[in-house]
Amino acid sequence: MFRRKKPAADQQPEDLDQDVVVVVDQSVNPYLVMFHEPAGFRAEQVRAVRNRLVAMNPDGEPKTLVVTSAVRGEGKSVSALNLAMAFAELERQRVVIVDADLRRPSCERYLNLNAEPGLSDVLMGRAPVDRLLRPAGYRQLMLLGAGTRVDNPAEVLSSSRLDQLLQRLKETFQYVVIDTPPVLPSTDAGVLAAAADGTLLVVRLERSLKKQSRDATRVLQDMGANLMGTYVTEVRGQDPESDRRLAYEAEPAED
Ligand SMILES: Nc1ncnc2c1ncn2[C@@H]1O[C@H](COP(=O)(O)OP(=O)(O)O)[C@@H](O)[C@H]1O
Ligand SMILES: [Mg+2]
Repeated sequence: MFRRKKPAADQQPEDLDQDVVVVVDQSVNPYLVMFHEPAGFRAEQVRAVRNRLVAMNPDGEPKTLVVTSAVRGEGKSVSALNLAMAFAELERQRVVIVDADLRRPSCERYLNLNAEPGLSDVLMGRAPVDRLLRPAGYRQLMLLGAGTRVDNPAEVLSSSRLDQLLQRLKETFQYVVIDTPPVLPSTDAGVLAAAADGTLLVVRLERSLKKQSRDATRVLQDMGANLMGTYVTEVRGQDPESDRRLAYEAEPAED
């Protein structure tokens, strides 16, 4: 949602470092409900998940949280971003979203940001993480993008630097939300889930196959992941448009 302002015709390329950013929101993924409809029912559902996770962390320790699912297209990236935004709404909480899908990264695209160096560069020792963190364009939420494309994502993610990085992020952030590739096609998500404090499994209600979600659960458990719960999306018939009893809009203000 932050895009660099177009340079004026007479501006030289070297001036661009000081560029002003302008907010553009049309291209932000429409399912990022925390951004597009923060007062809506769906945003409230995301907050409910957030609140449960906060309640599961009574000591308020910094936590790393993996968001994953069995296969692609089940809504991991959108769910991870919505959840990170919901955490970022909490007062005085520093939150970062990490795009650890080095195969098909999408966080930057969904936020309408340019792809820049990020996680892969940190894991390969090319740059310190502090230099690559940047604003996600939503409140105080920070982003560590997937970074420079690599041919060997599994190897890069299994680097011993991963644990160090997660520890380092917990020194700065209260919640570290990690978007991952799907569990069944590659080993990446299992490795990330094992390294994180908690894992959420995304299930797209009418599309995900029960067997695949179950197999993914087993893989994650075998890897030693701490499965905190299932994040169910696309639940139909349980929203205010389908059932007015669920509506609770603010009363119109009196003149
Ligand atoms: N609740 C939803 N309803 C319908 N489409 C959705 C929803 N959430 C995400 N999508 C769309 O589905 C596609 C896959 O979502 P994405 O979060 O990228 O999945 P994954 O990360 O699991 O591959 C995207 O095009 C996204 O815009
Ligand atoms: Mg994704």
